[in-house]
Amino acid sequence: MDNKLKLLKQKREEANLGGGKTRIESQHKKGKLTARERLHFLMDEGSFQEIGMLVSHRSTDFGMEKEKHPGDGVVTGYGTVNGRLVYVFSQDFTVFGGSLSETHAEKICKIMDLAMKNGAPVVGLNDSGGARIQEGVVSLGGYADIFYRNTMASGVVPQISAIMGPCAGGAVYSPAITDFILMVENTSYMFVTGPNVVKTVTHEVVTSEELGGATTHATKSGVTHFACANEIEAIQHVKKLLSYMPQNCEDRAPALPYETKNELRPELDTVMPENANQPYDIREIIDHVIDTGSFLEVHKDFAENIVVGFGRLAGRSIGIVANQPAFLAGVLDINSSTKGARFVRFCDSFNIPLLVFEDVPGFLPGTDQEWNAIITNGAKLLYAFCEATVPRITVITRKAYGGAYDVMNSKHIGADMNYAWPSAEIAVMGAKGAAEIIFKREINAAGDKEAKWKEMELKYSDIFANPYRAAERGFIDEVIEPSETRLKLIHAFKMLENKVVNNPRKKHGNIPL
Ligand code: HXC
Repeated sequence: MDNKLKLLKQKREEANLGGGKTRIESQHKKGKLTARERLHFLMDEGSFQEIGMLVSHRSTDFGMEKEKHPGDGVVTGYGTVNGRLVYVFSQDFTVFGGSLSETHAEKICKIMDLAMKNGAPVVGLNDSGGARIQEGVVSLGGYADIFYRNTMASGVVPQISAIMGPCAGGAVYSPAITDFILMVENTSYMFVTGPNVVKTVTHEVVTSEELGGATTHATKSGVTHFACANEIEAIQHVKKLLSYMPQNCEDRAPALPYETKNELRPELDTVMPENANQPYDIREIIDHVIDTGSFLEVHKDFAENIVVGFGRLAGRSIGIVANQPAFLAGVLDINSSTKGARFVRFCDSFNIPLLVFEDVPGFLPGTDQEWNAIITNGAKLLYAFCEATVPRITVITRKAYGGAYDVMNSKHIGADMNYAWPSAEIAVMGAKGAAEIIFKREINAAGDKEAKWKEMELKYSDIFANPYRAAERGFIDEVIEPSETRLKLIHAFKMLENKVVNNPRKKHGNIPL
């Protein structure tokens, strides 16, 4: 038995070393952790249970049979994060550059299948040179097996991809299907074709970082939801993200213990500027309304005219979608609509109630927006709200103009409770533009046209630039003092806790993509 135990120990040690000491050192020199070190920081101490540690590849071409590393470039298994079950794979760049072989793919598929059957999230720590070049089509098949599972698992269990190194070619499509992507500044990149191919095809000269680094994807493309300063920060973000989510689509997100205190927030009564066109930061309102320090902003640097993220209200997880008057006056455009829609759909998939703060002057006009399909893209946000069956509450803080009033979780498209602050202006458009159109004749006939226009603007304002017409109709359930917002929301979300809505039976809807 001693010899047999020795053999097992030896095999385990070999697996733990991945591609060997020299390659581990080279990984560290690049400022990167190894696959196992990352797992050490992610999983609760002592909880990680490895599956498939001794799996090795079956390739015999190019002398590959002589180079085998137990585990074959990916560490897979399960364990707990903050006490809750999570399945995980962590690609090992020290073994064939973390490239994906047939067996490497099988290991990832195995934990994804387990995650689906047992209803727990999958976290992928990606660090890979892509398809194992020596294996050819079997490697491509392996990717497709993963893509298929990513799609089947979508909306069933949360899936998170942390990109810790290269992620190129078709390999990018696995993270792209998952719910959240995190990238690390300067050491990770994602692109379908790298700088060399780009140069050959389009003659553009661009670095990997410019083409597909964390900042690029966090600000320009919106591919990544988080750009993290280093790997440890990325791992901490993964843990935090998981804390707001349920384990699967049948589960509820965990609630933190909460004791009711004085829930009035008088500071909110003075947050709104006197001038309705003056910007303010919606995050200030969010911070005052939700539990202190609980906001985790998602997609922070992309489409900043809408703010989305998770928070807690009286300990319970909520998803927040808010127009941002401090950026482009909070207007809805293509990117903000897509960003909002994706977040709404995530929350709805996983039973996370939605809170909307609305201050929106409408959709962004112009050829750029029209030619790039603001119609189709704006419809995504509308569609996402319409089909959402989770508890949904809107607070209109100021402008709710035009089509954007309908889109931003209005009563008409299924919101459960709609509040407005006294500063709310719920109208087809701003008073100035409205006066110009409907009082055109009076303005043109007047001696002092400017004065007449102003007079008519005030007239329109008096009638429509307030929340009371909408409240008379019941489109607004209550006009509230800003200081009461948190209190009202706590009561309303509690009241909606057991909400059940079943949308019509269908195979699936056809969201305008
Ligand atoms: C096999 C690979 C590999 C791969 C890297 N390695 N990529 N082995 N298949 N795809 C090996 C290298 O031979 C090397 O082995 C070790 O990993 C580290 O690689 P280096 O090049 O030394 O590292 P670095 O300089 O950091 O460069 C990393 C890299 C580069 C940028 C990822 O290795 C690279 O360009 N690799 C090829 C990327 C690629 O074209 N992949 C296919 C993409 S297409 P040794 O023994 O020296 O340590 C694709 C299709 C997916 O993935 C389709 C899905 C539908």
